[in-house]
Amino acid sequence: MATTPKRPTTLTAVSPAHTAYPSTLRRLRANEHIRELAATVRVDAREFIQPLFVDESLSERMPVQHLPGVYAETLNSVLATVEADLEAGVRKFLLFPVPATKSEHVFCFDGASSAVAALKSRFGNDVWLAADLCLCSYTTHGHCGIVNAEGTRLLNNETVQLLAHYAERLAEAGADCIAPSDMNDGRVRALRQRLDETGYDHVAILSYAAKFASKLYGPFRDVCKSTPSSAVRLEGRTSYQISPDNLYDAVQSALRDLSEGADMLMVKPAGWYLDVVAHIRQHTQVPLAVYHVSGEYAALEQMVANGLLERGAAHVELWTACKRAGANIIISYAARQAASWLVQEV
Ligand code: PBG
Ligand code: ZN
Repeated sequence: MATTPKRPTTLTAVSPAHTAYPSTLRRLRANEHIRELAATVRVDAREFIQPLFVDESLSERMPVQHLPGVYAETLNSVLATVEADLEAGVRKFLLFPVPATKSEHVFCFDGASSAVAALKSRFGNDVWLAADLCLCSYTTHGHCGIVNAEGTRLLNNETVQLLAHYAERLAEAGADCIAPSDMNDGRVRALRQRLDETGYDHVAILSYAAKFASKLYGPFRDVCKSTPSSAVRLEGRTSYQISPDNLYDAVQSALRDLSEGADMLMVKPAGWYLDVVAHIRQHTQVPLAVYHVSGEYAALEQMVANGLLERGAAHVELWTACKRAGANIIISYAARQAASWLVQEV
C-alpha cells in the first residue's frame, strides 16, 4: 500500500528533501493591495527637512551647480522660496547661512541672525527652522573652527566657546533648533548649557553626531565657500570628522551627544552609511535623521540627467532604504518634491 508523503506543517519540519516545494512568498508580492498591507516601512512627506542656503553676499539668487532645484538664496529670495515650499507641503527647514566676509577668529553672525529672524517673523510657527551651527563658511581656511597659529590643529575649546555664542544668537533670532555640525568634543553640552542659561531651554538640539569625513560634500562646499584650504596643514577634515572605517566611533559619538543633551541625532552621509543608522537605532529611541548630502544627491541627479534613473522613483527608493535602516527624519535637497513624488505610483 502506497503512503502519501506528508506535507511539512512548520518551517522547522522543512528538510532538504522538501526544497522542491513551491515557495509561497510571491503571494505577498502579487498586487499593490497586498504589498501595501505587507509593507514594513512607509515614507511620509511630513518627516522631511529641506536645506536652505542664504548667502549674504548675493544680490539675486543663484542656482547651485550640480544640485538641480537648489538655490543659493538672498535674504529676500529665501522668503519667496519658503512660501512656495509651504505650498508644496514642506514645513521644516535646515538653514545654512553663508556670510559675506571671512576671518580667522572674529566672526559676524548678524547675517545668520537676520535670516533666521526674517523667516520666523514672516512665517512664525508655520515653519520649523533648524539652523546649522558651524564656522567653516566663516573661516578664511574653511575649517570648522579656530585653528592654531601653526595651522596644524583645530582648537577644540576655543571653537566650542564661539559656537555657544553663535547658538545663542540663532536662538535669540527665533531658531527652533540648533544643529551643530562641527564635530568638536563637548559642543552639545556647552550648547545645551548656554541655551538653558539664556532662556532658550525650549530650543532643541539636533546633533550631527555621526558625521563622516566623506568625499561626498563637494557641491555643498562650493555653495558655502568652505572647501578646506591647503594653506592650513590639517588633512582635510579627517582630524575631527569620523573616519569611514570606524563604525564604533560613530556609535560612541551618538551616545556621547545624547548624554550631553542632544534631542535628536543625525547620520551623514546617508546611502553609504545605512549600516551606521541601523547600529545607532539599536542603541536609542530618539529621533534619528539621515542627511542625503550634496554629493549623493548630485550623483543621483547625474544618473537622472543621463536617462539612467527615473527621478522621483530613485529618490523614493533611497528614502525608503533610509527608513528601513531605522531613520525617521530625512534631510534631502529634494524634500520639496517629496509630497508629489510620494503620492504618485512610483
Ligand atoms: C560642515 C558641513 C558639511 C555639510 C554640512 N555642514 C560638510 C563639510 O563641509 O565637511 C555637508 C552637507 C552636504 O554635502 O550636503 N559643517
Ligand atoms: Zn563645518
